[in-house]
Amino acid sequence: MIEAFSLKGKIAIVTGAIGLIGKQHCLALNNAGARVVAADLDERQCIEFAEHHLCDAMGHYINVCKKESIKELLENVLDRFGKVDVLVNNAAVNDMFEDPKAASAQSRFENYPLELWQRSVDVNLTGVFLCSQVIGTQMLKQKSGSIINISSTYGISAPDQNLYKDSEGFQSFYKPPAYPVTKAGVIMLGKYLAAYWGKYGIRVNTLSPGGVKNGQTDFFIENYSRKTPMGRMAEPGDYQGALVFLASDASAYMTGANLVVDGGWTCW
Ligand SMILES: NC(=O)c1ccc[n+]([C@@H]2O[C@H](COP(=O)([O-])OP(=O)(O)OC[C@H]3O[C@@H](n4cnc5c(N)ncnc54)[C@H](O)[C@@H]3O)[C@@H](O)[C@H]2O)c1
Repeated sequence: MIEAFSLKGKIAIVTGAIGLIGKQHCLALNNAGARVVAADLDERQCIEFAEHHLCDAMGHYINVCKKESIKELLENVLDRFGKVDVLVNNAAVNDMFEDPKAASAQSRFENYPLELWQRSVDVNLTGVFLCSQVIGTQMLKQKSGSIINISSTYGISAPDQNLYKDSEGFQSFYKPPAYPVTKAGVIMLGKYLAAYWGKYGIRVNTLSPGGVKNGQTDFFIENYSRKTPMGRMAEPGDYQGALVFLASDASAYMTGANLVVDGGWTCW
């Protein structure tokens, strides 16, 4: 049975590969036997990461918002490896407000800037559309492939704005609408493509992670953990098993699903 989880001989592309979770996705796929293409905006960091942390891997520039850049990546992957089996649509932006004093007002829905909305739609949703279109078309030629879209608990549940109050009750910022809305869109795009490509050997699933512990204040971590049945935030590596499962033949009869790995956050 364990062999069904092996990715030996598979070629996997990960977008947003040098981010917090992207690196973990690359390591997991590589450890399971895949040759990995680590793709992100900073090509030098991609190449360094591939050289120093992965085995028989490739680092490559990608801007998921630019179709030409995705095509160029695919051409180079095909030149080197001859095929592509797995695509992890992981690249995303999550609004940050640089001036903490302005964040509370700026992040209110009533004031939320159109440019920020547009930027999230471009990267988080159109980026998944474009990568799936370009790389999925290649999978269609091969009559096989597994696409994994990375969503979030916020693609399922609306943000509880109380979480973004500080220890004195001040609303540091409001979680803006673009991230949850684009992450919900990613789940539906996955279902759409699963239904569209189901008969052609391409599986499309979503992985929805919960929040990862990454330098937040103790107050935030405590509050987040209290809202999580398992009582803690995720570690960056907590999604490795689920990703390998979705990429591999172990999930061969699974498509159009949303695998939620969130310590129970969305269950109550
Ligand atoms: N960190 C969390 O707590 C958490 C929780 C739930 C879901 N997620 C999801 O997991 C995924 C990874 O999150 P993360 O925390 O590692 O984020 P991150 O910000 O650390 O990494 C995101 C990466 O995407 C890249 N990127 C941004 N725009 C791009 C573009 N146009 N083209 C190519 N690459 C681009 C960035 O350079 C960055 O390396 C995202 O889809 C995110 O929504 C994260």
